[in-house]
Amino acid sequence: MDETYRLGLGNNDILTRKRAEQDYVKFWEEEAGKLHWFEKWHKTLEWTPPFAKWFVNGKINASYNALDVVSQTTPEKSAILWEGENGEKRSLTYGELLNYVCKVANVLKSLGVKKGDRVTVYLPMIPELIVSLLACARIGAIHTVIFSGFSSQSIRDRVYDSKSKVIITSDGGFRRGTIVKLKQIVDEAISGLDFVENVLVYEHAKIPITMGEKDKKWSDLIHSASEYCEPEKLDSAHPLYILYTSGTTGKPKGVLHGTGGYLVHLYNTFKWVFDIQKSDIYFCTADIGWVTGHSYIVYGPLMHGATQVMYEGALVFPTPKRIWEIIERYKVTILYTTPTALRMFMKYGDTLPNSKDLSSLRLLGTVGEPINPEVWKWYFKIIGKEKCPIIDTWWQTETGGIMISPVPGLETISLKPGSATLPLPGINVAIVDENGHDLPTETKGYLVVKDPWPGMLLSLWQDDEKYKVAYWSKYKTMYYSGDYAIKDKDGYFWMLGRSDDVLKVAGHRLGTAEIESGFVSHKSVAEAAVCGIPHEVKGESIIVFIVLKEGISSSKQLESELIQHIRDVVGPIATPDQLYIVSKLPKTRSGKIMRRLLKAVAKGESTGDVSTLEDEAAVDEIRIALNELQKTISKKSN
Ligand code: WTA
Repeated sequence: MDETYRLGLGNNDILTRKRAEQDYVKFWEEEAGKLHWFEKWHKTLEWTPPFAKWFVNGKINASYNALDVVSQTTPEKSAILWEGENGEKRSLTYGELLNYVCKVANVLKSLGVKKGDRVTVYLPMIPELIVSLLACARIGAIHTVIFSGFSSQSIRDRVYDSKSKVIITSDGGFRRGTIVKLKQIVDEAISGLDFVENVLVYEHAKIPITMGEKDKKWSDLIHSASEYCEPEKLDSAHPLYILYTSGTTGKPKGVLHGTGGYLVHLYNTFKWVFDIQKSDIYFCTADIGWVTGHSYIVYGPLMHGATQVMYEGALVFPTPKRIWEIIERYKVTILYTTPTALRMFMKYGDTLPNSKDLSSLRLLGTVGEPINPEVWKWYFKIIGKEKCPIIDTWWQTETGGIMISPVPGLETISLKPGSATLPLPGINVAIVDENGHDLPTETKGYLVVKDPWPGMLLSLWQDDEKYKVAYWSKYKTMYYSGDYAIKDKDGYFWMLGRSDDVLKVAGHRLGTAEIESGFVSHKSVAEAAVCGIPHEVKGESIIVFIVLKEGISSSKQLESELIQHIRDVVGPIATPDQLYIVSKLPKTRSGKIMRRLLKAVAKGESTGDVSTLEDEAAVDEIRIALNELQKTISKKSN
């Protein structure tokens, strides 16, 4: 555990940390001065727990900071180097991107979209996705992106909650050699939702689509859109976007991010964590459907005038060499990916990366899940050839930007495989016990944030109460992250996964309650309990236990039907690896499903204290079902 690697980029700025420790508000104020503001703020922070207002009354625009600032000096600089799964390539300079964004902003205006209106974006990883977000930001519309792996029912729930006026989608998107028919999925999702006025369709896959009354073709409208769109001068606290994410309750939460504070957080972290330089070619493999893409594909990199590779499709398609070919082809210098992707690459062996020229790489990042030390070392040795710092970045949809990570752009520190190292300057995190008291080192506890930070969510969309309950009720004055962590004697943070009922499956965040209500919505299901167990590649895999309604008997056909059902109502990302039909679920006397126990049984661990259980027979039944499964697994591997 204590193996360390002292690697940095030689920028040893010891004063910055001190400055931030002395006065974090002043520190962030100085950072904010590096962005373009139409009008300066009157007050840096107004903190009325749990609501923070950063840069009060400052006027700013995210698309102006992401595009105009760079375009004024170097419009010819490449912004996006795009590659499709089918090998198609496109590139856009900052000047071109600005022009494109202005046109789409004008299209949105022509469709009646106004400041504060919501626009849902359901697009594959193509430049039009970035363009759509920046076009919304330009006119002050609130974008809400839905990951293209969600089903029509999930889209419907999100569109309904946000009351989006316009949906932007495409005919289809490419994934592992097949075309996902996005427009068709949207049609199902919004049928009967009268508040949706228009669907703007970009023709990407060039497949036949049915155009209805509300549908407008992107190409038709762009053609006649005027070239320039004045950016709205927005209040610093103006909502930039809603991003739905899973929590412990059944319905996903609409995390609401503002503009000024959020941009300052990203500007700062992209500079220091990624040490971004003019000559860099940056590649983040995340999907913009998740927060990593919002923060570190769209806003962070563009504000710095970075050149980035954007890829649509699977990183191992058509062969597992694809990722390394991309790095070689574009001479990528900074790679930002997930532990799940790394574990998958690692499984294919060292020969593939060794057969490609990866010498351009100088910095390697990871995000989304704890990284196993052996995977960290593989990344460091085989991919980085022992010369690239690994930046293990801990953060969340709610935090907006990176909170704990090495900062090679600022200082040289010793890296320890598997540790996200230290909180960033200006970020005050701690590990506390049930009562909110600081824990000594080497003691597992809850990760909290003690002071507000600029990227912090504003609230949950139209639900301040839920915001208070979810993040500020366990500890009144500290932000509750839901993660377990431990701090070692050097003050390094080690993330130990979620302390609540949130799963991280292949880096995707899913709530057990969300999947359970998906199963329970099937006509034959009385009850469902979901838990995650460790998985070699995906980090966690989903297991579900189902109790059928009276009179319904189990069959292979029903099991397949249930799997299909969850794919339809939540999306393919919620597909369980194992499904068991049982007659009872283990519950406490007060009626709560004992997920800890399900997990222990599923992992073959001791189930510990069962004294609060209503019925021990339920545990035995689940144990038998799992033993059966164990046999089939060993049969398969024989
Ligand atoms: C987990 C992703 C360990 C954590 C940006 C957190 C991590 C959740 C790390 C948020 C990391 C994120 N090490 N665990 N470096 N980064 N996590 O909202 O459990 O999709 O609470 O944001 O991912 O997931 P989300």
